[in-house]
Amino acid sequence: MSELTPKEKKIIQKKILQLSAEIERHDRLYYKDSQPEISDFEYDCLKAELLHLESLLPADSLIKFGDDRSGILLTHKHYTPMLSLENTYNLNDVFDFDTRIRKLLEIENDIIYMVEPKIDGLAVNLIYEHGQLKYALTRGNGIEGDDVTDNVKTIEALPLGIENISERIEIRGEIYMDQAIFHRINQEREERGEVLFANARNLTSGTIKLMDSEEVRSRQLKFIAYGVGLGGDFITQNDVYLFLKQLGFQSQRCFHVCEKIKDVEQIIKQLDKERKQLSYDTDGVVFKVNECVLQAKLGTTAKAPRWAFAYKFEPECAETILRDITFQIGRTGVVTPVAELEPVNLSGSCVSRATLHNADDIEKKDIRIGDRVIVEKSGEIIPAIIGVKVEYRKNKISEKFIFPEKCPCCNAKLLRLLEEVARRCPNMNCREQVIQKIIYFASKTAMDIDGLGDALIRRLVENKKLKTIADIYSLQKEDLYLLDNFGDKSVNRLLSNIEHSKKTELWRFVNALGIPLVGEKTAKDLALHVPSLNILMNNISIDDLLNIRGIGTKAAQSIVDFFKKEENVNLIHELLASGVECSILSIKKNPKFSGKLFALTGKLEKYTRDRAKVLIEENGGSVTNVINSKVDVLIAGIEKGQKLREAEIKGIQIWTENDFLNALS
Ligand code: IVH
Repeated sequence: MSELTPKEKKIIQKKILQLSAEIERHDRLYYKDSQPEISDFEYDCLKAELLHLESLLPADSLIKFGDDRSGILLTHKHYTPMLSLENTYNLNDVFDFDTRIRKLLEIENDIIYMVEPKIDGLAVNLIYEHGQLKYALTRGNGIEGDDVTDNVKTIEALPLGIENISERIEIRGEIYMDQAIFHRINQEREERGEVLFANARNLTSGTIKLMDSEEVRSRQLKFIAYGVGLGGDFITQNDVYLFLKQLGFQSQRCFHVCEKIKDVEQIIKQLDKERKQLSYDTDGVVFKVNECVLQAKLGTTAKAPRWAFAYKFEPECAETILRDITFQIGRTGVVTPVAELEPVNLSGSCVSRATLHNADDIEKKDIRIGDRVIVEKSGEIIPAIIGVKVEYRKNKISEKFIFPEKCPCCNAKLLRLLEEVARRCPNMNCREQVIQKIIYFASKTAMDIDGLGDALIRRLVENKKLKTIADIYSLQKEDLYLLDNFGDKSVNRLLSNIEHSKKTELWRFVNALGIPLVGEKTAKDLALHVPSLNILMNNISIDDLLNIRGIGTKAAQSIVDFFKKEENVNLIHELLASGVECSILSIKKNPKFSGKLFALTGKLEKYTRDRAKVLIEENGGSVTNVINSKVDVLIAGIEKGQKLREAEIKGIQIWTENDFLNALS
């Protein structure tokens, strides 16, 4: 390439500066706020462009690491730096990588690679001293990271003690969250009108920095180990995984040793097909030189090891036309904009709707009806509009989208509460809100009225047969005969299901009421500790609620406020008058359980974990996920692992499943 003129150099320098500033802003949004504005793919493209510009002016600018330090948490230094991985979206680069390192190593033969999924989570460094977990650190700036030890200790399968007596060892791996938990939390956030997390990765990094470890525990994070920093000496990468497994870590189960680079390509294609079956999100494939001697010869650059490389899957994106913007109104009145799209094929399914998140997001991206937009769906996330192809707007007249000031259903003026991005309809009688409240009331984890689904509820509200939740219990045969497709059999079945739902458990009833910030879990926590509905309604103070494990200040306040409102109390009285009865889980004072702290490990044959937990609590005990000196009894099923070993070391009493059954009887 010919020498650059001073003018060209200046232009490139200016571009580098602009691009660096932009990347820095996105780093902040991604690492510190866990709320990125652009997708990983767009981010990687910015970085690739910066790298390209830098290569034109070698000494002029240095690409920096992302930095996830919050500035609030204590930090600690890593004993060996936590590096990043060089990555690509292009298969040709995979072969170039192989050629490059063979050249560096002066090897003509094939190189053996370890190939495995790239887990889309959050990197952590676990420092064990004399076998005990001392620090858990985020990557931070690669040199020092945030101390998130207390939160990491809530991860159920993570060993707090390992059989490794060396003075210090660093275990590297990825923290992630299962999709089911991610969806549950986002759903709860949506109900509260809070900003949604775009994917499980962002929620994981938001979670790991929370101050409330109990909240972190409830989010059930997981950990997969994939490397050893300080303190490891291995022959192959394969041995690293065997070692990690022996120590009790969940390590990569899905890995392939490839004899040559062509096989790596094969595995990349295979993993791309199989990735939906993994329990974690994966955004690509990592391949590592298998032999540690060769790894050592190759060494690292300032940013990444030279012996590893990541191929990233392109996110599934498609372009289509935004036909309209409609609105969904939730049971608490939150108004969510929805993109109605010209149907388009994305990840094998036909997408015709996508989320537009909130008014601010539409404004920021300047999304207009009629625009050609880019829809993205990566992993399990809801399809979202990530951008607009503004160039297609040129010859068309389009208008900026103005978010309505009034509720699209009942015309009430929308409110924007302090610190909330969501707009809310304040009218409790708004038809859509009523429909959503009734849907929630009848749903599986609430009153569980089989057959009373969304469509039927909508029709009954439209026909004015249901105006409030309580009307469910005064539905008559003739109300249902009026509907199409409803014959004797379906009418009788539905009425019998409605009748059947009247005898319910307290937690279901509390959940069904739709108290803001009270979902299934909080309702269960409440019901375990509050003796009756009457007491919950009349005799509970914020302090009493705060003494219940799992209930925080905001939820406590919301519960007290709910029962102060006359309309809520009237609704409950109406429901009780129509025959709803809630049984409570009585806490027996079983001396084998009472006041004791239990932990569980391995699979029980007779009960699920959740059921075992309820039984322990019903008998007066409580349950934790961590083994520490406060634990009185460990119940060990089959497939016992690290927890059992830890309990034995700590001298904690151990029960078999049989001991547990005997204690219950
Ligand atoms: S090996 C020096 N293996 O990807 C880093 N990393 O984008 C060697 N990651 O910071 C890491 N899955 O947090 C490795 N199977 C895997 C991985 C993995 C996810 C993360 C890791 C790294 C990031 C780079």
